[in-house]
Amino acid sequence: MESKVVLVTGANGGLGAYVTQAFLDARATVIGTSRKIQKSDFSSPSFTALPAEISSLEGAHALVDQVVARFGKLDVLAHTVGGFAGGQSIAETDDATFHRMLDLNLNSVFHILRAAIPALRQTGNSRIVAIGSRAAIEPGAGVGAYSASKAAMVSLIRTVALENKDAGVTANVILPGTMDTPANRKSMPNADFSKWVRPSTVASLIFWLASDAGKDINGAVIPVYGIDV
Ligand SMILES: NC(=O)c1ccc[n+]([C@@H]2O[C@H](COP(=O)([O-])OP(=O)(O)OC[C@H]3O[C@@H](n4cnc5c(N)ncnc54)[C@H](OP(=O)(O)O)[C@@H]3O)[C@@H](O)[C@H]2O)c1
Repeated sequence: MESKVVLVTGANGGLGAYVTQAFLDARATVIGTSRKIQKSDFSSPSFTALPAEISSLEGAHALVDQVVARFGKLDVLAHTVGGFAGGQSIAETDDATFHRMLDLNLNSVFHILRAAIPALRQTGNSRIVAIGSRAAIEPGAGVGAYSASKAAMVSLIRTVALENKDAGVTANVILPGTMDTPANRKSMPNADFSKWVRPSTVASLIFWLASDAGKDINGAVIPVYGIDV
């Protein structure tokens, strides 16, 4: 990964921090983004923090333009931005919640894809790995807005896989079950954390898909459910 330029969205998140560290450990040049990301979030000199709001196309374009201007290319887009809302049936779901889920889970990926695909195509042999959710293909009662936004995202990534294979760009999406993040431990203190998916496992998979070893995997939708399948 030494010569690779990697953009991690949501780099300071529960999963994103592991993803960022995995690429830094492999000596890649890593640009981490989120609204509040800071250089001090990671100690490596190979890490650059570029704060951005990627629910807007302008924010996503400005971000990718900066990456290409500073580092000359983009090899890997690891997109982890997303968020959860639950506890309401569809009949109870208000517009604000529905639009928030679409903004976080669908618009963010749409905008970062639109902004990054030209650069990824130009690099060639490049990778897109996005994080969906188990809920994308297994809807549950009370999480309809979240599930719908993640399902649409899966469709988008599979389309991008088809549209960019001619340039050697792969696009895959990982569907984690509940992950063992600090936020989940806080909101579900009585759960059995050992049954949850370790973020480091998902980070390793993203890393592998982004490496030369993952070259032939394109358009895959990969469940990572832990031992609680
Ligand atoms: N946690 C789970 O159990 C679980 C299970 C299945 C799937 N997932 C999915 O896995 C991914 C990572 O989950 P996580 O638990 O690591 O989430 P998280 O800790 O909430 O991290 C979300 C990240 O996205 C950034 N972000 C949010 N809105 C943004 C925006 N508009 N523009 C730019 N950055 C934005 C946040 O940073 P700022 O606040 O600094 O912007 C943060 O870095 C998400 O897509 C989530 O839906 C999670």
